[in-house]
Amino acid sequence: MKLIDAKKDLYRKLAHEEGYRSRSAYKLKELNKSYRIFGPGNFVLDLGCAPGGWTQFAAKIVGNQGKVMGIDMSFVEDIPRVKMLKASIDDDVTKEIFTFFGKKIKAVISDLSPQVTGNWSVDHSTQISLNYSAVKIMEQVLEKKEMHFSKFLTVNIQMNFMNI
Ligand SMILES: C[S@@+](CC[C@H](N)C(=O)[O-])C[C@H]1O[C@@H](n2cnc3c(N)ncnc32)[C@H](O)[C@@H]1O
Repeated sequence: MKLIDAKKDLYRKLAHEEGYRSRSAYKLKELNKSYRIFGPGNFVLDLGCAPGGWTQFAAKIVGNQGKVMGIDMSFVEDIPRVKMLKASIDDDVTKEIFTFFGKKIKAVISDLSPQVTGNWSVDHSTQISLNYSAVKIMEQVLEKKEMHFSKFLTVNIQMNFMNI
């Protein structure tokens, strides 16, 4: 078995044991350890959150004093203390975001990805367009000089911390 497959297996097993809905929760855990994207008491928005692994991790870290909202086009089963919104990020979602948080927030995390067609050019441009839509939301909801984390399809995963 290749090392990468062994790692995937390990995280799949861990996710199952620890009740995370996706092994990608561990990617976010590692990133948050290195970059301290959010912490206890923070308000966090998760874009493209289904099935909810990142959201579960964020909810655990922010705790009772924090708030987490997840948005996805697909249905996501409820996660305690989390507001789920079934919508496209291309819809006008900012009103619902502010209604829930009541103020600008600390962090936006985005694992948005299109349903891949296998045509790299198409998938790449859809990914870029998703990231533009995500940035538009971030510009409106983030506190000044806070951060976002986005996934890009051009490389495996790329960090993009921006001051907005
Ligand atoms: C890789 S998955 C996210 C996995 C998630 N971070 C987790 O840990 O479980 C990417 C998600 O982006 C969502 N997505 C793609 N385009 C979207 C859009 N325009 N609006 C909202 N969600 C979208 C997909 O429905 C999919 O659930």
